[in-house]
Amino acid sequence: MKKYKPKSGEKIERHEEEIPPKVELPFEFSPEHYPVLLQEVLGAFYPLRHKSELSYFDGTFGRGGHYMAMKFAYPQMKATVMDQDLTAIAYAQTRFPTEVEKGQLKVIHGNFSQFSEHNLNNFDMMLLDLGVSSPQLDQGERGFSFYNDGPLDMRMNQQQGLTAEVLINTASEDELIRIFKEYGEVYRPSRVVRAIVNDRKTKAFQTTSALAGLIERVDGWQVKGHHPATKYFMALRLAVNSELEVVAESLPKMIRALNPGGRLAVISFHSLEDRIVKNIFRASEDMGRTVTKKVIVPTQEECDRNSRSRSAKLRIFERSAQDEQGKL
Ligand SMILES: C[S@@+](CC[C@H](N)C(=O)[O-])C[C@H]1O[C@@H](n2cnc3c(N)ncnc32)[C@H](O)[C@@H]1O
Repeated sequence: MKKYKPKSGEKIERHEEEIPPKVELPFEFSPEHYPVLLQEVLGAFYPLRHKSELSYFDGTFGRGGHYMAMKFAYPQMKATVMDQDLTAIAYAQTRFPTEVEKGQLKVIHGNFSQFSEHNLNNFDMMLLDLGVSSPQLDQGERGFSFYNDGPLDMRMNQQQGLTAEVLINTASEDELIRIFKEYGEVYRPSRVVRAIVNDRKTKAFQTTSALAGLIERVDGWQVKGHHPATKYFMALRLAVNSELEVVAESLPKMIRALNPGGRLAVISFHSLEDRIVKNIFRASEDMGRTVTKKVIVPTQEECDRNSRSRSAKLRIFERSAQDEQGKL
């Protein structure tokens, strides 16, 4: 490729990222969930380390792994954290009561899409670690997994009305086909959907094992080690929690809530989700820049240590330092 030669007097904007040092963390994380891309997330905010005060928003608190590491690396920060799962909120309140009392931590139950309704603004550091946490996947009663049998639930927010059971037993054939094609990227879901619609006439689907069993029976195992229900379950989960829609709706608002020079880091686990993040960052370049021209993925060592990190992708956006807030 030919190297671009600037015309005389023309300035080329270069952003050399400093290489952040590895942070040694002197504590253990909750055994329930190990945070992914941890050093990379800490590194995303490294250029802000000299600020005497830092405000941090974590929209996906989970078991607080990223929050704990951020608190250690940036001790001057004040944090606001959200999660739509009541167990994550209960964990935050019982695990970090001193921080809450001292006003260093504010815990809010809710969907991060509603964050502007809570009047949240002016953040230096924002993080979304999308998708489900390990305890949500591991606890059969939450209904996310076909390996741990449970009710067909899949709600991240236990107060939400729509469950996977409602969707599977009431959605039309066309709607189910759309969900599995669009969210699960299942090439030909019609045979499975026809079987669902037929079987539910005599008995409603109530458990994850009943649905997984039907998919296994109809589609069979195509790839060794890859359960045929995987994509169908992923699609249902995305539909029940409106995950893609929520990300698309929230990211522009979150970018506007950044302080000048502030950074937003987003970890996604699904190619469609990552595409939404990439496109929104690109479309927001009047307000800042995408720091990660290339997406950041976990090292082989991390993938070996934590198989759930395998599909993780991190992108970072930085709001322009020069712009005055409100004028953008
Ligand atoms: C991958 S886990 C986050 C783990 C966390 N970073 C940690 O280190 O412990 C995702 C968490 O985000 C929550 N979540 C996902 N989408 C959400 C949304 N739209 N609003 C609020 N919470 C959400 C889930 O309930 C889950 O607890």
